[in-house]
Amino acid sequence: MKFLKDITDIKGKRVLLRVDFNVPVKNETVLDDTRLFASIPTINYLRERGARVIIIAHMGRPGGHVVDELRLHAVAQRLELIGNMQVKKVETWIGPEVTRAVADMMDGDVLMLENIRFSADEEENSGSLARDLAALGDIFVLDGFAVAHRAAASVTGISQFLPAYAGFLLEKEIEGLNAVMRAPAHPFVAVVGGAKMETKIPVIDNFIHFADHILLGGAIVNTYFAGSGYGIGDSLFDAGVSKKIIANFRHQKIVMPVDVVVGRIDGSDTRVVDVPAEPVALCAAGEGIYDIGPKTLALYGRYIAVARTLVMNGAMGYFEQPPYNEGTMAVSRVFAHRAARDECYAVIGGGETLQAMDMTGMIDEIDVASTGGGAMLEYLSGKVLPGIAALEQQM
Ligand code: 3PG
Repeated sequence: MKFLKDITDIKGKRVLLRVDFNVPVKNETVLDDTRLFASIPTINYLRERGARVIIIAHMGRPGGHVVDELRLHAVAQRLELIGNMQVKKVETWIGPEVTRAVADMMDGDVLMLENIRFSADEEENSGSLARDLAALGDIFVLDGFAVAHRAAASVTGISQFLPAYAGFLLEKEIEGLNAVMRAPAHPFVAVVGGAKMETKIPVIDNFIHFADHILLGGAIVNTYFAGSGYGIGDSLFDAGVSKKIIANFRHQKIVMPVDVVVGRIDGSDTRVVDVPAEPVALCAAGEGIYDIGPKTLALYGRYIAVARTLVMNGAMGYFEQPPYNEGTMAVSRVFAHRAARDECYAVIGGGETLQAMDMTGMIDEIDVASTGGGAMLEYLSGKVLPGIAALEQQM
């Protein structure tokens, strides 16, 4: 794979830069600009050397249609502000308006194309989109680690037509995650939570080979309880998970909650319930399991306290609804304190995990705070991400 520093002649070059600026926006305001900040070093490196930077990004899942709420105006404005740069934004992603805007660019300029997922050819890399985008530039740079797991025209397609490089963010995230995958210091403790079983199961399966302990929380645990015969009331769980997978969770490396917080979905009528070894009803209809309990927190804290490699992805409970955010916040604090004392190598990823860590005020202590949600999980589950593979094929 080639990196930014390998580009020998940048001045005057039109650089197509694929970033991941898929950020929450409400009323034209960017609510979380972490992903924007994360790609600014790459943008600045290129601009300062006289490149003409053409930013390609997506937002949401418009499915190949123009959806006005998913336009990138607010993102371009926010980038101007936090990056202290001028960002010209065009209303479309290809065609005469774009060609003109690119032709008008001067060295050091930044142009942002409209949400590339408005194109019906983006997600499947179909039609001539990748070739048409490539015709706008001289060099392709992929900086969006968070979208590197998508075999999309603007992620994997353009590098078939142009010299392609990894941006600083992509490079940093790959390095950080490789350190965990290749030579982790032990004990290695992974904290895995959240709701989406289909993305978590492969990660847990992979961690079983090289982690020492895997601490579970969130709806994954509910699924395990339901599949093992416990009553879980109205808890969120995945009914499609097979008995075989549930049985795999009874592995000595997997640590399950020993108590849980149950209550109503609006955060009322909460209580702590112990989880006995034999299946019982943990809560009734109208209630659900929404967080890990205090004994579990103490137990998980003991594992985290001695870990030398720590990975966390996913919330321990229904993080959006206090008081069910407490387990996630407490685990995040213990985790961050270990990282702050440089006692371990700490990696986190996923929206809620980053948000919780940010709320501890110690996110800067974390060695790798991955901008990738799905991409980080796929990487950690041992998959080769298509975006990275496309760069590697370009030797
Ligand atoms: C993300 O937010 O994880 C990336 O932007 C990918 O988005 P997607 O899951 O809609 O492909």
